[in-house]
Amino acid sequence: MEASKSAFFSEQQLDTIADKITDQGYLVLKDAVDNELLEGLLLQAKCLSADHWREAGIGRKEHHQIDRSIRSDKIHWINGAVQAENQFLELMESLRLGLNRRLYLGLYDYESHYAKYANGMFYKKHLDALKGKSNRVLSSVLYLNANWLEEYSGELLIHDPHNDVILASVSPQLGTMVLFLSEKFPHQVLPAKRERFSIAGWFRVNNS
Ligand code: OGA
Ligand code: MN
Repeated sequence: MEASKSAFFSEQQLDTIADKITDQGYLVLKDAVDNELLEGLLLQAKCLSADHWREAGIGRKEHHQIDRSIRSDKIHWINGAVQAENQFLELMESLRLGLNRRLYLGLYDYESHYAKYANGMFYKKHLDALKGKSNRVLSSVLYLNANWLEEYSGELLIHDPHNDVILASVSPQLGTMVLFLSEKFPHQVLPAKRERFSIAGWFRVNNS
């Protein structure tokens, strides 16, 4: 059994991330996460049996509904069940604290789930939070797919909030992390031609 390594973003990484969020509201980080941790997360996602995955819904609480014409992925909430999940949560906690120190966002907590897109599955253009209606402030997506080829598609498209311009097209490559302001950027997942794993998460403020 190997010793557990702590996972955190360096002060320099946090500076870069904070600057990009201030300047453009989103960023794409390649090789953001230690390889061992990525392997641990992917292994856990692949080990989850069918009964651990639930049909992803849209809307929260009483508005929650399943609509496969909008999204067709399956999800599993991360709760620190294995060491890799704990390290991932530790890493995101360092991001939460680092961003609060730099940007005064008042990020209060972080929730995250694995998402599994089977061949052909997608998530149509959407916002993760409606202005003033949600406590989600900053969205994160971490990709877990080794050697993802362009021909597999499954890109995340980040749209300009004001027009039809696509600001970024992100290949779901192992170790790539995307961060964006939840209320600002519509985004979508193009149909993937291979099984596609990601971890989507949200930093939230405390509204209650
Ligand atoms: C989401 C989402 C993007 C992705 O779960 O809200 O937009 O690339 N996921 O998995
Ligand atoms: Mn989303």
